[in-house]
Amino acid sequence: MRLADVDQVTVLGAGNMGHGIAELAALAGYEVRMRDITEEFVHNGYERIEWSLGKLAEKDRLTDAEAEAALDRVTPLVDVEAAVEDADVVIEAVPETLEIKTDVYTEVERYAPEDAVFASNTSSISITDLSELTDRPARFCGMHFFNPPVRMELVEVIAGAHTDPDVLELIEGLAESFGKTPVRVRKDSPGFIVNRVLVPLLNEAAWIVNDGDATMAAVDSTATFDIGLPMGPFELADRIGIDVAYHVLKYLQEELGDAYRPSPLIVERVEADELGRKSDVGFYDYENDGATIPA
Ligand code: 3HC
Repeated sequence: MRLADVDQVTVLGAGNMGHGIAELAALAGYEVRMRDITEEFVHNGYERIEWSLGKLAEKDRLTDAEAEAALDRVTPLVDVEAAVEDADVVIEAVPETLEIKTDVYTEVERYAPEDAVFASNTSSISITDLSELTDRPARFCGMHFFNPPVRMELVEVIAGAHTDPDVLELIEGLAESFGKTPVRVRKDSPGFIVNRVLVPLLNEAAWIVNDGDATMAAVDSTATFDIGLPMGPFELADRIGIDVAYHVLKYLQEELGDAYRPSPLIVERVEADELGRKSDVGFYDYENDGATIPA
């Protein structure tokens, strides 16, 4: 398949990343089917797209007519068959557990056209392992977006051990058509590029606070004012989901060693199900406008 043949893009998962990826595909002019497991989840994802398009229009990044046309191109769905039966490219952005991904790929493989390309937005699971859950390991690669997808410039395109080079080119072309800059990750390695660099930074910040060396506010403000990061590590962890950072760290730890052991501060938040903005509380409490860790 060539990029010119791609009409329909299906996004599996309407959460933090899925809704943003669906929005990008719609803005690029593709017919988009966004699928999640309940009406409530797809409805929430659809509303987040509507909100985001409204924000982009408000900031003159697009016109009201473009925002409306993009929203019209998104069909929210729960039915898997209807979501993938005509798909040219399926982008999977479901939660980061192998069990969930296995179920999803097994189901989707039954209904997707034989020549459709599958791309996973996984942040921490091996692309080769995921590709082997399907009957199309050559037409499978990683397509890793960053949060928030509509605002972040980069997309990692990751080759699994079986990926056909033409598929990598197709997905790089797709990322460009979304207005993104693709970077190719030649080897399916833990954390790819960005998470291998970024998530240990979040973990190190958590160790500093864990060890009582500085407060969370001091670390966040130092990172923004002195290091020049767009947001502090704790604010960023809350944005991407502390559970996502945790899964990346556990995978890095398993594959690369104990230097990547998640800080107890991260583990505690995950155990308390306080995962960041998506749960209204993480390192910061978004309902009460404060930090959750005593200074
Ligand atoms: N759609 C539209 N608008 C959005 C939005 C979205 N999805 N998300 C936020 N905005 C809006 C905000 O509501 C705000 O609007 P307001 O001013 O009316 O309140 C506005 O965008 C803020 O935009 P600005 O350009 O004024 O602000 P910034 O210059 O600070 O940019 C940012 C915001 C792009 C999020 C910037 O802070 C940033 O780059 N942060 C770092 C993000 C990052 O590193 N992400 C990668 C994480 S790693 C990852 O995702 C991988 C995973 O596998 C773990």
